[in-house]
Amino acid sequence: MSLPKRRKVRTLVLLFFAITFTTFLFSYTLRDPSIYFFKYAFRLSDNFFSRGPCACRRCIAEPEDESWFAERFNQSIHPLMTRENSVLSDDTFRWWQWLQSERQPANFTEVVEELFQVIPDEVLYMDAGPERCRTCAVVGNSGNLKGSRYGAAIDSSDLVIRMNQAPTSGFEEDVGARTTHHVMYPESAIDLDNATSLVLIPFKTLDLQWIVSALTTGTITQTYIPVTARIKANKDKVLIYSPAFFKYVYESWLEGHGRYPSTGFLSLLLAIHICDEVSVFGFGADQYGNWHHYWEENHLAGAFRHTGVHDGDYEYNVTLLLADNNKIQMFKGR
Ligand code: C5P
Repeated sequence: MSLPKRRKVRTLVLLFFAITFTTFLFSYTLRDPSIYFFKYAFRLSDNFFSRGPCACRRCIAEPEDESWFAERFNQSIHPLMTRENSVLSDDTFRWWQWLQSERQPANFTEVVEELFQVIPDEVLYMDAGPERCRTCAVVGNSGNLKGSRYGAAIDSSDLVIRMNQAPTSGFEEDVGARTTHHVMYPESAIDLDNATSLVLIPFKTLDLQWIVSALTTGTITQTYIPVTARIKANKDKVLIYSPAFFKYVYESWLEGHGRYPSTGFLSLLLAIHICDEVSVFGFGADQYGNWHHYWEENHLAGAFRHTGVHDGDYEYNVTLLLADNNKIQMFKGR
């Protein structure tokens, strides 16, 4: 082969390799990185435009698979009673009646009908969605609130849930002054102002009869102990804790510990189901291990821990786990 011909072939071979190499480089640098670029851009826009289950910084109902919380949390059970969900399965009714068994209970269906002629039959608080950020404070009665100065933090929540005796007057700096919901049962009932929702935890059919009576005729004065005959409360704001939800709390969250959940634990689970962010105050012992109430001078008074029906330690541990799982924020007081 002549020299010029050889040069021509070499140039052609070089050209061929150069074209192959640049094509390869192009396909690598342009095609693949572009995939990464688009993927990244999509992810960014996704995060930017996608809306979480609520409008708060953190949402309780954040979807999760197989977590400790997800295994227990069941949003299909409504925490508050309506005419419709008041129909209980035999199993639930038997469990509920066993809590504080009555010798001659009235007909449950008839009592529920009477009840909803006095109080509203509404589905409330089930409006969770990307637009809603409902913050709630659940305020237990622990002596650890004394000197805590949590008052302003408590009052800044949308909903402030207190329970049983829970006085605020004279304790505002530590416990706040607002109450939007007051959880009670006949034997712990107190008067409320017109703006507060009374949340009744019924333990027996007589409790449902009692609330009707206490808001109207005042004829029921005794359950297993004497109870207040009349109560000051706005009957258009009375809510009833659902017995089916009560059983769910006991079985799913306490796994059968104690005879039944305490008012505090029931209130906490109510908040977890109707709020997007929950702050918890006034639960557990104080710094010296005392379990008294914040209004009691006697630090050795046992409060709920020594009632014998609740497993205070188990409840407290579940509450701590909820905090560890970032589902609630715990304020431990002093
Ligand atoms: O004593 P009482 O039942 O009125 O208190 C309300 C709730 O506050 C209790 O059911 C319990 O959950 C919580 N509590 C607590 N530690 C205390 C006192 C009350 O956790 N020392």
